[in-house]
Amino acid sequence: MALSRLDSLYMAVVADHSKSPHHYGVLEGVETLQLNNPTCGDVISLSVKIENDRIEDIAFAGHGCTISTASSSMMTDAVIGKTTAEALELAETFSQMVQGEKNDEQEKLGEAELLAGVAKFPQRIKCSTLPWNALKKAIERQEQAE
Ligand code: FES
Repeated sequence: MALSRLDSLYMAVVADHSKSPHHYGVLEGVETLQLNNPTCGDVISLSVKIENDRIEDIAFAGHGCTISTASSSMMTDAVIGKTTAEALELAETFSQMVQGEKNDEQEKLGEAELLAGVAKFPQRIKCSTLPWNALKKAIERQEQAE
């Protein structure tokens, strides 16, 4: 089956994020959180600099598949500069979207919305939510430390 032009465009954007991920690296002086995808063993390392309940900076490293790397890159773009409450809402919206639930807030995800098609591939849901779950844990850890 031939891909529609829109599907091809989405795939090109996903491939671009995977090949040249945004905010890739480690933030100096910020504790890193590691989370793995139990189904494949791939790991994400996430550093999130939170000040006054706002994500001032964020970076990720590690190794994963195209979907998890693109999702990590898109997630960092979506949450940088957001409050932690806004970021947690985005994480929930993303999780619902990739499980096929329609969500009116989807456009707030920015390019991460392009991963809505993951809902058709249940085995890739964990790949796409890995960075968002790491983000939730990093925010929880920060809140517990306060
Ligand atoms: Fe490991 Fe996707 S196959 S994160």
